[in-house]
Amino acid sequence: MIEKDGYIRNLLQKSPGVAAEARGWVKTRRDGKGVHFIQLNDGSSFQDLQVVIDAGTVPEPTLAQATTGACLRVSGELVASPGAGQAVELKAREIEVYGPANPATYPLQKKGHTMEFLREIAHLRTRSNTFGAVFRVRNALSFAIHRFFQERGFLYVHAPIISGSDAEGAGRMFQVTTLDLMNLPRGQASVDYTQDFFGKPTNLTVSGQLEAEIFALAFSNVYTFGPTFRAENSNTPRHLAEFWMVEPEMAFCDLDGNRRLAEEFLKYIIAYVLEDCPADLDFFNKRIESTVLQTLEHVATSDFEHLPYTEAVHILEKARDGGRNWEFPVFWGADLQSEHERYLTEEVFRKPVVVTDYPREIKAFYMFLNDDEKTVRAMDVLVPRIGEIIGGSQREDRYDLLLDRIRAHGLREEDYWWYLELRKYGTVPHAGFGLGLERMMMYLTGMKNIRDVIPFPRTPGSAEF
Ligand code: 4AD
Ligand code: MG
Repeated sequence: MIEKDGYIRNLLQKSPGVAAEARGWVKTRRDGKGVHFIQLNDGSSFQDLQVVIDAGTVPEPTLAQATTGACLRVSGELVASPGAGQAVELKAREIEVYGPANPATYPLQKKGHTMEFLREIAHLRTRSNTFGAVFRVRNALSFAIHRFFQERGFLYVHAPIISGSDAEGAGRMFQVTTLDLMNLPRGQASVDYTQDFFGKPTNLTVSGQLEAEIFALAFSNVYTFGPTFRAENSNTPRHLAEFWMVEPEMAFCDLDGNRRLAEEFLKYIIAYVLEDCPADLDFFNKRIESTVLQTLEHVATSDFEHLPYTEAVHILEKARDGGRNWEFPVFWGADLQSEHERYLTEEVFRKPVVVTDYPREIKAFYMFLNDDEKTVRAMDVLVPRIGEIIGGSQREDRYDLLLDRIRAHGLREEDYWWYLELRKYGTVPHAGFGLGLERMMMYLTGMKNIRDVIPFPRTPGSAEF
């Protein structure tokens, strides 16, 4: 195992003149007159360690195997580097080849691969510059999320993956069963779920929210952070069938408090990643999306805009009357589509926008009904380039009203008995939201396709690796 000190990230900080040993994978190799150069990377930093091998120092057969993709241990001495881009380089004295990689067949060549091709070699794309940067940022982001909530006394809850209820009430679930649904017993027309593994229909969870509410009504402030699953057949650059969600839930909190926390949270995690991953973000800014750094720095320091849905619709209608062609029609009661969300955040306000108080018909059953009885205390946080990055609400904490909503949505009351009981015993105003981790990753990196910010994407028709 590499000790902390031995990572390339740390070797690059050392002064010339010390003995050093590095382990990693060869990114590129270049042969000069009487000297060979290897760019070695162990994933610890964007920057590679340049290894310099004078002719004759290592045996020919070893050198012959030290090609792109091979895994090596190199020991020698750190010396001042005459080349641009690094202060020190490693002058090799000895090389051990753990695993060679045939240069004729190694799929990850130096340049020119499309993101689509790299997705097909997800077992090797992790060694490329782009995906090295993506997954270091994802790591830093995850840590920042925990740190934000832990610093504020939130309890981390592990919500179940297998669930007996539909947390969003939208019916976009993957079923979990051990029954052979293709071959029902002779004479049986429909599935008998009492015979199934759990004795009832179950599915992969679409959200940990309902369970988080149970915990908030005992631990006050909590959050979940885990995988969630949606069987929406939408093949878009912003949707995954399996994605990670962070869901804080706060007792003694209303929609205003929820919105303020969301803003503080986004600013915190952006500031953390800016500080922790400067080289990776610099790469995204130069090579992927030239507005990344500017946008992030702007968001970290400016106040978010917030307005009710009704006002947002007015703005969109005005744009239409002024000649803007919406693909999806705008009227009070229609759900906001990506084109509308992006117009508000990119063109009208030019910063993150929180839209609140949506019509009850287009939002989930658990949201708090306003006094107008038409709108619910929902909020969506919209950001440039992405659109919706956070969805949340104040929850309906009144028993009778919640029961009405469950029935009105055509949901099975008996599936939600425990959720209803929370409103019977010690109910209290509470609120929370969900941040899609991959949407946040897209925002931080400028990556255009959500499949390229998660290690192994699951989308319609695709579950390799
Ligand atoms: O707006 P959503 O559906 O809200 C909920 O699930 C609530 N239970 C959250 C809560 O209040 N605790 O999803 C929340 C966020 C979205 O804003 C989006 O960022 C992300 O999850 N998201 C997806 N990300 C990738 N692929 C998908 N199919 C996604 N669906 C939602
Ligand atoms: Mg939503």
